[in-house]
Amino acid sequence: MGTQRSMVLLVSFLVKLFLFFSVHVRSQRTTTTRTEFTFRGFSGNQSEIQMEGAAMIKPNGLLRLTDRKSNVTGTAFYHKPVRLLETSTRSSTNVTVRSFSTSFVFVIIPSSPSNKGFGFTFTLSPTPYRPNAGSAQYLGVLNKENDRDPRNHVFAVEFDTVQGSRDDNTDRIGNDIGLNYNSRTSDIQEPVVYYNNDDPNKKEDFQLESGNPIQALLEYDGPTQTLNVTVYPARLGFKPTKPLISRQVPKLLEIVQQEMYVGFTAATGRDQSSAHYVMGWSFSSGGGGDRPMADVLNLSELPPPPPNTAKKRGFNSQVIVLIVALSAVMLVMLVLLFFFVMYKKRLGQEEMLEDWEIDHPRRLRYRDLYAATDGFKENRIIGTGGFGTVFKGKLPNSDPIAVKKIIPSSMQGVREFVAEIESLGRLRHKNLVNLQGWCKHKSDLLLIYDYIPNGSLDSLLYTVPRRSGAVLSWNVRFQITKGIASGLLYLHEEWQKIVIHRDVKPSNVLIDSSMNPRLGDFGLARLYERGTISSQTTALVGTIGYLAPELSRNGKPSTASDVFAFGVLLLEIVSGRKPTDSGSFFLVDWVMELHASGEILSAIDPRLGSGYDGGEAKLALAVGLLCCHQNPESRPSMRMVLRYLNGDENVPEIEDDWGYSNPSRNEFGSKFVGFVSSSPVASSSSLATRVSSISRISGTG
Ligand SMILES: *[C@@H]1O[C@H](CO)[C@@H](O)[C@H](O)[C@H]1NC(C)=O
Ligand SMILES: *[C@@H]1O[C@H](CO)[C@@H](O)[C@H](O)[C@H]1NC(C)=O
Ligand SMILES: *[C@@H]1O[C@H](CO)[C@@H](O)[C@H](O)[C@H]1NC(C)=O
Ligand SMILES: *[C@@H]1O[C@H](CO)[C@@H](O)[C@H](O)[C@H]1NC(C)=O
Ligand SMILES: *[C@@H]1O[C@H](CO)[C@@H](O)[C@H](O)[C@H]1NC(C)=O
Repeated sequence: MGTQRSMVLLVSFLVKLFLFFSVHVRSQRTTTTRTEFTFRGFSGNQSEIQMEGAAMIKPNGLLRLTDRKSNVTGTAFYHKPVRLLETSTRSSTNVTVRSFSTSFVFVIIPSSPSNKGFGFTFTLSPTPYRPNAGSAQYLGVLNKENDRDPRNHVFAVEFDTVQGSRDDNTDRIGNDIGLNYNSRTSDIQEPVVYYNNDDPNKKEDFQLESGNPIQALLEYDGPTQTLNVTVYPARLGFKPTKPLISRQVPKLLEIVQQEMYVGFTAATGRDQSSAHYVMGWSFSSGGGGDRPMADVLNLSELPPPPPNTAKKRGFNSQVIVLIVALSAVMLVMLVLLFFFVMYKKRLGQEEMLEDWEIDHPRRLRYRDLYAATDGFKENRIIGTGGFGTVFKGKLPNSDPIAVKKIIPSSMQGVREFVAEIESLGRLRHKNLVNLQGWCKHKSDLLLIYDYIPNGSLDSLLYTVPRRSGAVLSWNVRFQITKGIASGLLYLHEEWQKIVIHRDVKPSNVLIDSSMNPRLGDFGLARLYERGTISSQTTALVGTIGYLAPELSRNGKPSTASDVFAFGVLLLEIVSGRKPTDSGSFFLVDWVMELHASGEILSAIDPRLGSGYDGGEAKLALAVGLLCCHQNPESRPSMRMVLRYLNGDENVPEIEDDWGYSNPSRNEFGSKFVGFVSSSPVASSSSLATRVSSISRISGTG
């Protein structure tokens, strides 16, 4: 009996011992290996977090995994391993992954809206750091060599922010969450959304790298092998009940070892970089059947998120290139605009017309004249003189033109002058140079005439001929004389109003291709006069040698003063001598003396030799003398002159005392010499000029 009793006691003890041990071990397994922690900010938790690479705890309590430097990694693991495998007490082959739950709030601040990446992970790792892990797409978890190696025993939930194509040619969505087993490539990838609690089928998009705090919740249920991943903007304040990812993850069992370290990894790329922060983190791993619940992280209890300076901080190279390119384009456009404005302005100067200029049909556009004369090039100049410069030009679809560029001494009289031009332009006679139009440009007045090919009478009369003999034959001279007379007659009597030429002289007579004379510059003298009129002085206009004597007394031009000038011109044509030689020679006096001594034919141009008609020559000289009568009233009209020259009327006898012997003439003559010596432009230059060389003499009363 004693032995039996002691046997029972022993068995009972052993059973109790077994039970004690089994219960003790079991309780130890279920209680001592649980891990629970909550970081509401990481201030003072340097020892609890094992950090490598760029990771650090900021003084304000934020855990920074990477800054925005390119090509960096940063890892941060809880310093103690977590027991994640559960081995059944009944069968050592029945091994499961323990349930766990973790929650964290993170912030990703991109370098700029266009420069972000690469991403970060929540990782289960056999080590509290990731040796030789690569940056960029390796996210600080793996590297090129150990990618996809089953010996890694790494599970990562990837928060990916880089869009584009991966090295393996699979597409990156750019704002997604993936589940990675021993590989940088995700098995499961989901674009980032959260489900609205009111309408669980409604997806709400948001950006991981917005710079705003984002809450992530990972819940793994061991018995069902289900992993739920929920991500949502922390500002929502509530947890969406429907997770983004809810999957059975039996593969986890192949990864997880008895003890694993839990933590974060992050990386930036060479060209893509964001700063990755964790504001708070709670974790709970369960044992047995109870479901762990990581502490809820309330945003108000966490340190303030890092300032979102993405937009203020530096630009990446693409942006700089873009800015430079845009600046260059802007610059080019500005330059173009500048030239366009200048061009418009230049055109505008021409188009900026004063009111009175607008309604004139004869106004030509400066632009056209500019083009017609090759921009008033020097090689287009065909004459210069007292009035300005003459350019030869060609307007489209027209005969050549002569453009006279006048710089009026003042613009004062231009308006009235232009009005006169308008009417002068209507003058049409075969012995007048046709005035086509005019143009005012800045301080220039441009007059457009028909181009007359043979130059001025002046040049024909005095040019030394290449071959012996006169340039102008007698017949031509006589025809020219009559032509000029005809033109003057038209001006004086045949047009609707009297036009006084005021500057009849050889250089104002142009000879056309059929040796027909054409009077030019009619009326132009008045421009000078108008421009110079000031309160008290009156200007005497004309050319020394051709000025009628009464002009120096009353300064009033008349048809008779034109007749006087014509008379001088007539004598000049016949004699081939200039009206005065700035010495004591006066053509009219000289011819008069020859007439008085009965040797009038001696006045004929010796270059003609005997090649002239004596009767016509006598007639011409006589008419010339008649026209040069001292007394204006005694001069014939142009109508009479033409009748004399045509032989329709007999020339009256010229009396010897018709005025030239009276003392006033001598007085005038001496005064005349004085004018000549003080006037350098008394005679035209040797240049073949078609321009009036006008000398202005202030009238003496
Ligand atoms: C973090 O550090 C604070 C202050 O040292 C301490 O009170 C807290 O318990 C630590 N948290 C964890 C999870 O270790
Ligand atoms: C990134 O950094 C590692 C060392 O930290 C270096 O070996 C590698 O060449 C770098 N990669 C690039 C793309 O700069
Ligand atoms: C394995 O163990 C778990 C508890 O640890 C139990 O729920 C499950 O039924 C077991 N499975 C098998 C096949 O024994
Ligand atoms: C995961 O989500 C599903 C669907 O919402 C839910 O039924 C299940 O309880 C969740 N599991 C955990 C561990 O939260
Ligand atoms: C967060 O904390 C504040 C103040 O401590 C509290 O009023 C609020 O209800 C909390 N929110 C949650 C979701 O726990």
